[in-house]
Amino acid sequence: MNTSAMNLTGTASWLALVAQGESMRSRTLRELFAEDGERGQRLTCEAVGLYLDYSKNRITSETLRLLIGLADECGLRERIAAMFSGERINITENRAVLHVALRAPRGSSIRVDGKNVVPHVHAVLDRMTGFACRVRGGQWVGHTGQRIRNVVNIGIGGSDLGPVMAYEALRHYSDRGLVFRFISNVDGTDFAEATHDLDPAETVVIVSSKTFTTQETMTNAQTARRWLLAAFGGDERAVAKHFVAVSTNATKVAEFGIDTANMFEFWDWVGGRYSMDSAIGLSTMLAIGPDHFRELLAGFHEMDEHFRSAPFDRNLPVLLALLTVWNTNFLGAETVAVLPYDQYLKRFPAYLQQLTMESNGKRVTLAGRDVDYATSPIYWGEPGTNGQHSFYQLIHQGTRLIPCDFIAFVESLNPLGPHHAMLLANVLAQAEALAFGKTADEVRAEGTAEWLVPHRTFPGNRPSNVLMAQRLSPAVLGKLVALYEHAVFVEGILWNVDSFDQWGVELGKVLAQRILGELQSKAAPAPAHDSSTNELIRRCRQGK
Ligand code: F6P
Repeated sequence: MNTSAMNLTGTASWLALVAQGESMRSRTLRELFAEDGERGQRLTCEAVGLYLDYSKNRITSETLRLLIGLADECGLRERIAAMFSGERINITENRAVLHVALRAPRGSSIRVDGKNVVPHVHAVLDRMTGFACRVRGGQWVGHTGQRIRNVVNIGIGGSDLGPVMAYEALRHYSDRGLVFRFISNVDGTDFAEATHDLDPAETVVIVSSKTFTTQETMTNAQTARRWLLAAFGGDERAVAKHFVAVSTNATKVAEFGIDTANMFEFWDWVGGRYSMDSAIGLSTMLAIGPDHFRELLAGFHEMDEHFRSAPFDRNLPVLLALLTVWNTNFLGAETVAVLPYDQYLKRFPAYLQQLTMESNGKRVTLAGRDVDYATSPIYWGEPGTNGQHSFYQLIHQGTRLIPCDFIAFVESLNPLGPHHAMLLANVLAQAEALAFGKTADEVRAEGTAEWLVPHRTFPGNRPSNVLMAQRLSPAVLGKLVALYEHAVFVEGILWNVDSFDQWGVELGKVLAQRILGELQSKAAPAPAHDSSTNELIRRCRQGK
């Protein structure tokens, strides 16, 4: 088991993988495919309606065997069981990590400190359903009796990225009679632009914050309160009709002035970046309706069950994670590009950035020792085909190794003439071009002038995964998100880090608080910082 005492880089599997990495550096995907005519069928995995083709990675069956050996040496099977059984695996915050309970079917049992939490999850889901039905059905009306037509979610990080991503991803399934806006940034522009054309009398504001203390969210919530009350001549009674809260912190919700009857609860065993399927998904439920929301949860759950039970060599999250570890730690990749070929998934890369990097962007082990290996790669991406006309140049011909996760759907939700065939042709072509490139001889054979040959040559050997599903649906989105959630978990186990805390965001928050006081103070601040920060503060104050 990968206990705090374990030295990852000294394990037999790690050492064998280092040697394997050395030998694979000189192998090409062209050779590997030429040696095995079945590779494109063999190095694939299909489960719960998702198909993963990982054959275009620079691996052999031996690589995979060694990676699985590493997972075994790290005690992955036991760690999965520990998470599902509610152990406090988030050790720095002394919390259980049970987002899987959020999608557990009614009647099942998952215990935290001896108590089954599943009935609580479903009680909140039922309350969310009641609220969503009343808003969508027009029975929940505003202070002046007007029907609610606008939903504004105020939140940041996990209380924003999941809801925005899901709203965009499932727009096809959404009630087009409702307008959805998401406000996250403390920059007043975000609030101003999101609300400038909304009528407060027709707007419900969801204040989403696990802690209900986050500076950005509380500032935006106060601004929303003023915006709303201004429309009702300051009548405080309007708050009850126009504000609801999603939080773990009932005391702070009440202090803000929102009746806790209008609060949808979740729990400290749900991490912010793992919360889009908790009450934080209230805006999602309002958009797509309770039935579709439950389909989303069922999709999550299907992936949970697959993750928990499938052997590692047929386990989608485990394979995805092992490939990331391989590319990062043994081939030296520093990033992963996530490239959804579906416009609805345009915010999926941004969502994954928090999930992956806030989870595994860590530099010490569970025991607090410095790691001597790389942890989370940098995640980024844009939907295809747009990225092809922007940064793909660097992926094809630049000096860096950038593994790509392509995501595609066999069927389009908007089948318009030739569009979808073109979209699919492009994603398949990109994976092919990255893997196999174009040699100098092939370029020459096209009659290219010799001086241009190096410019037109593609080295290839760039790894990628292709993830496919039949069509984008709420259930498929749930599966996709759970796939990455669990892959992040597996990576964290191998890297022996706490994937569920985020201490790295704290220092900036504290310093910002101090600088805010200095910017707002009447007196010139004493130069309490370094000369650079002092000068920048001075310049900001001059403009006041
Ligand atoms: O940025 C740190 C963080 O705590 C995230 O982990 C979290 O998702 C976000 O802030 C928002 O927190 P809250 O939901 O408590 O407002």
